[in-house]
Amino acid sequence: MTNEVKIKIKTTDLNAWFCDKQALFNINMDIYEKKVTAIIGPSGCGKSTFIRNLNRMHETVQGARAEGSVLLDGRDIFEKKFDAVTLRREVGMVFQKATPFPTMTVYDNVAAGIKLYGRIGKEKLDEIVEKSLKQSALWNEVKDVLHKPGTSLSGGQQQRLCIARALAVNPKILLLDEPCSALDPISTGKIEELIHELKEDYTIVIVTHNMQQAARVADYTAFFLLGALIEFDVTSKIFTNPSDKRTEDYVTGRFG
Ligand SMILES: Nc1ncnc2c1ncn2[C@@H]1O[C@H](COP(=O)(O)OP(=O)(O)O)[C@@H](O)[C@H]1O
Ligand SMILES: [Mg+2]
Repeated sequence: MTNEVKIKIKTTDLNAWFCDKQALFNINMDIYEKKVTAIIGPSGCGKSTFIRNLNRMHETVQGARAEGSVLLDGRDIFEKKFDAVTLRREVGMVFQKATPFPTMTVYDNVAAGIKLYGRIGKEKLDEIVEKSLKQSALWNEVKDVLHKPGTSLSGGQQQRLCIARALAVNPKILLLDEPCSALDPISTGKIEELIHELKEDYTIVIVTHNMQQAARVADYTAFFLLGALIEFDVTSKIFTNPSDKRTEDYVTGRFG
């Protein structure tokens, strides 16, 4: 590799539980800055739990807890003094099901997050909304319907609206939890193109069930099984020459 890669997030012996059920076991993983990292693995293997620990969304679930450390730019986000609101501003998240706020317009959906962080003038807000919608490759499709309900958009547009909403508060990292699993192939293609563009400026972690998608968008891929990280490597290595038999079984579809 010619370019130096910087570690943006480092997890060390990360363990997580839901009440007394352990969902993650000693995850040691580095996430590189301005790269796309895919998390793959069968249902229930801890993919969502893992990324939800990267912005401490995990702890918002009743009875959930975590141990170990997650360093963001070298600072432990599990430390009491690390403010969760600031953290979630820096580490944005987009979910599987597009979740525009149902009573809000397209414009207000994008503006919602910004308003949470303090007062802002109309002109500046217009500017950020437009910029975020351009970044999420949605502006041209919605610039004439900004004051229609967010839910009037198509599924693929709603998902890009959620990405715009996440980008509007100026995060450094985007966590995408199966963002395309409810979308048609054309919308999926648009989101994948968008991911390519966004990694110029953002560190991206994407959970996906779709191995072709991981192969297309990710620089690095992590394979999880039963709450453990089995293998992490550059994506081409994971898909063509994995080191672990379990990874090979999974990526070749031989998995039970
Ligand atoms: N809110 C919850 N309460 C209790 N158990 C949960 C909860 N969410 C997930 N789990 C359990 O934790 C494990 C990991 O789940 P999850 O991280 O959602 O897996 P994945 O995203 O890979 O499908 C599973 O066994 C799942 O049943
Ligand atoms: Mg999941």
